[in-house]
Amino acid sequence: MKRVLTEDTVSRVGETVKIAGFVSSVRMHGKILFIDLRDYSGIMQTVVISACKHYAEAKKIRPEWVIEVTGKINERPEKMKNESIKTGGVELEAEEVVVLSEAKTIPFSVDTDGHEINEETRMKYRYVDLRRKRLNQNLKLRHKLLLECRKFLDKEGFVEVETPILTKSTPEGARDFLVPSRLHFGRFYALPQSPQQYKQLLMVAGIEKYFQIARCFRDEDLRADRQAEFTQIDIELSFVEKEDVLLFVEKMVTALVETLFPEKKITKKPFPKISYKEAMEKWKTDRPDLRDNPEDSDELAFAFVVDFPMFEKNEKKEWVAVHHPFTKPDTEDLKKITESPEEIKGLQYDLVLNGNEIAGGSIRSHVPEVIESVFQVLGYRKEEVREKFGHLLEAFKYGVPPHGGIAFGFERFLMVLTGEKNIREVIAFPKTGDGRELTMGTPSADIEKSQLDELGIKYKKNPNPKKGGL
Ligand code: AMO
Repeated sequence: MKRVLTEDTVSRVGETVKIAGFVSSVRMHGKILFIDLRDYSGIMQTVVISACKHYAEAKKIRPEWVIEVTGKINERPEKMKNESIKTGGVELEAEEVVVLSEAKTIPFSVDTDGHEINEETRMKYRYVDLRRKRLNQNLKLRHKLLLECRKFLDKEGFVEVETPILTKSTPEGARDFLVPSRLHFGRFYALPQSPQQYKQLLMVAGIEKYFQIARCFRDEDLRADRQAEFTQIDIELSFVEKEDVLLFVEKMVTALVETLFPEKKITKKPFPKISYKEAMEKWKTDRPDLRDNPEDSDELAFAFVVDFPMFEKNEKKEWVAVHHPFTKPDTEDLKKITESPEEIKGLQYDLVLNGNEIAGGSIRSHVPEVIESVFQVLGYRKEEVREKFGHLLEAFKYGVPPHGGIAFGFERFLMVLTGEKNIREVIAFPKTGDGRELTMGTPSADIEKSQLDELGIKYKKNPNPKKGGL
């Protein structure tokens, strides 16, 4: 007999069916055994009476075992109905109960929302943790949101193009994760902090409307809204100005919310545009929370923050790019760029939602002299620019449409939409606060010496053994 999902039993009263899943709970009422069985569609009550041929075996069943039950779907007596679940009006009277897999006692309950459980334990047994309804739903919603993004962008004429993961350092402001090359001794790939330069090269390639659900890697200190690897909905368009991109982003975000979160209310449309200066003066942050009532979980206050300074000074008093060096300055006056960097604004924009920066982008410089003067302010020597970004400058010599784009921090967006407080709650196997993934045990030290020899790698003694490592 083919297995059916528990949610499909509702329409099959009187039929004999087979269901399978995890045991959610087991209870005895007198001589009757009740087993609640959980599958990916929901939960279902099964009843095993003493006349059932597998009654004795069924009594041994414990929570989280994986079982298969065949039996007749009966309507529950009126006062036994449970309105709060989909299958609450029916139950399955077991004829056969087969144990497919026994389970050790699980390390924590999966019936609660899980917030009360120690994070390390949850992450170590993440595959159990993910059985809980909240996380299970988050993963399903993640899938739906990705799917809707893809569908929307496809309908708008965008082409999804995948760009390399083994690539070269890009200046997004964080440290790179490096990958040593075996074939090119002493050389390294860097994992992409974003597909920024490749997407610009795709504009040179005439793609015009690019997107990618792109995995990005940044070796930075992790926070509640930051992971070492995360996903961007990365977008780039040719022949656009700032207003075109902002309008497009608003249309996309509105469509996503209306399709997947119809119960949520967008505070203000069109999305307010706030200058960086105003944001800092009025809210003392560049990601203000503009909700009318921050207690209301169904409110979504989007806003664009614009007119950022192009450059800022870092702690060493050197100029750094506020967004990245490819952002177009608001002037093409080269002298002004190099002589008064503090006065230059970048054609950069952030999308904020309820006090979170969920996307950032800019119109790009496509005039080589402007790019060179920006790098000059940033203190790059001419040869250094050629070595690091020569490919882009060279590409621009073969004809480049004016272009611009944006990237959504996909998990941050989803985190706000689901009301989660930590980005980990919307990622299947996230990293802990100190960058470890505990189910597989990464980063790992069990690399064969032969593998290291091939790569020409030898460790120095760990200067700070307390921080972990060898
Ligand atoms: P930016 O660096 O602003 O821009 O990144 C875009 C968005 O990605 C999210 N984000 C993160 N999410 C989780 N963990 C992190 N460590 C993390 N870092 C960033 C944020 C942010 O707004 N290439 C440019 C985009 C462009 O110009 O088109 C870029 O990556 O939500």
